[in-house]
Amino acid sequence: MKSEILSFLRERGDYVSGQELCEHFGVSRTAVWKAIGQLKKEGYEIEAVQNRGYQLKGDGDVFGRHELESRMETRWAGHPVFYYESVDSTNQQAKRSAEAGCGQGTLIVADMQTAGRGRRGKAWSSPPGTNAYFTLILKPEYDPDCVSMVTLVMALAVAEGIRAACGVRAGIKWPNDIVAEGKKLCGMLTEMSMERDYVHHVVVGAGINVRRQEFAPEIARTAVSLEQLCGKKISRAQLIAHVMKAFEEYYGRFEQEHSLAGLLEQYNALLVSRDKEVCVLDPKGEYRGISRGVNAHGELLVELADGSVTEVYAGEVSVRGIYGYV
Ligand code: BTN
Repeated sequence: MKSEILSFLRERGDYVSGQELCEHFGVSRTAVWKAIGQLKKEGYEIEAVQNRGYQLKGDGDVFGRHELESRMETRWAGHPVFYYESVDSTNQQAKRSAEAGCGQGTLIVADMQTAGRGRRGKAWSSPPGTNAYFTLILKPEYDPDCVSMVTLVMALAVAEGIRAACGVRAGIKWPNDIVAEGKKLCGMLTEMSMERDYVHHVVVGAGINVRRQEFAPEIARTAVSLEQLCGKKISRAQLIAHVMKAFEEYYGRFEQEHSLAGLLEQYNALLVSRDKEVCVLDPKGEYRGISRGVNAHGELLVELADGSVTEVYAGEVSVRGIYGYV
């Protein structure tokens, strides 16, 4: 009920009488009073004025389960939410939760990660109070070879969530990064558990740089945060809720055909490398070409010097712009 009281107070933006809360939630005055007391303990500023009721004050940066739940506007993506002050990795926790029976839509969120993981076995620095680290559990009915497309769906959702939360027009560096002004804002990591042709679960995790921060020297030149870009304070819970809303919509479209056909135009419009020269770092040998967008399977189309077009599969290679990180 605490999450519901929070959204009720936030939506009203004015005083709400204890009586109205009791009637709305069908509970006693004591129950309302207790819930308000617990929310205050969690860090919310809720003013209580005699004869007027309760009002939620300020835009404090409370980050936790109730804040996340109270902002979620989805049917299934982001339900339930498990919030951790500290966890090894939200992806690892999501895998454990999925194995323990948590269903599609379960969202794992953490304030900090002690063993955050990036692609290719790299560590993902995850300090507290600074960024948004979250992982969504999916229980798909499609084949394992469709799973790499889920990262592209999440990329679209993160870009849209960022736009909705603060107006920043971020782009996508295929397949795993969200970028703005030529720097990395967010990284994504999709993992799956499968057996023969059957996918047990997929976990798709994202780490979005939110607050201004001093990045580690090895990424200082290529990383940027949302608050650096837009100059205002951003609610991490609101940002994650926006991402979940967009994901739910885009994933619905993806699931209809198990293809990105219905999302291609939107995706390719955000692709930062589109029509630019890229270097494909293929383990079998590097080559250059012009990026021509992705196809309905999420492969990057790269036009070679002889005019032929190759389809680059995300799992095998990475792609770099030839002038720097993007
Ligand atoms: C990359 O760019 O290398 C991918 C980074 C993915 C980081 C996120 S943070 C939330 C989730 N939990 C993890 O351990 N990793 C992902």
